[in-house]
Amino acid sequence: MLELILASALSVYAFYKIVKFAFADADSNLLSKGDHKSNAFQGKVVWCTGASQGLGLTLVKHFAEHGARIILSSRSAGRLEEVKASLPTHPNNVIVLPFDLCGSPDQLQKAAAAADAAFDDAGVDYLIQNAGNDDDAGVDYLIQNAGNDDDVGVDYLIQNAGNASAFIY
Ligand SMILES: NC(=O)c1ccc[n+]([C@@H]2O[C@H](COP(=O)([O-])OP(=O)(O)OC[C@H]3O[C@@H](n4cnc5c(N)ncnc54)[C@H](OP(=O)(O)O)[C@@H]3O)[C@@H](O)[C@H]2O)c1
Repeated sequence: MLELILASALSVYAFYKIVKFAFADADSNLLSKGDHKSNAFQGKVVWCTGASQGLGLTLVKHFAEHGARIILSSRSAGRLEEVKASLPTHPNNVIVLPFDLCGSPDQLQKAAAAADAAFDDAGVDYLIQNAGNDDDAGVDYLIQNAGNDDDVGVDYLIQNAGNASAFIY
């Protein structure tokens, strides 16, 4: 009798999974990761370029809601301050780092070093390279330089912008 109940439960579960898979708006790899862990970004440092509006703004709100520390970048310092004030987290968890991604390599290196040193040299866990728009697709230089001796490089690079014509490591 117990076997019958277990077999029935397994069948129902398998049927549920098959139906969910058939109608899911994601690929099998994503589905296999299971449900999102709500504490996955707790305390992580997320550096987002193009954070003053659009997709970048939506992304930083999401990460802030999940307890991440945020570095906001775009060219407009004023707009980034407004974004900082609007985020659902303590202001100490947000750093404004304005710079122009089409600036000189030297300026970009300085921005990367500043991001690295933010939050007491915590380094960067996630770099969301998102800046850009339709008028100016892509950036001139993409610096992939964040990290420190303990934590060389970023853990994740989320590349959402158009093609960069030069990559600097
Ligand atoms: N929206 C879509 O449907 C879509 C689809 C596919 C891909 N994308 C890509 O996703 C990214 C974001 O799209 P979006 O629609 O959110 O764009 P958006 O609303 O135009 O926002 C662009 C962001 O990039 C910043 N930015 C632009 N040029 C910059 C530069 N030279 N240096 C630093 N920051 C710069 C802007 O801030 P400042 O003006 O203050 O610098 C702004 O925060 C873009 O790379 C776009 O190509 C978007």
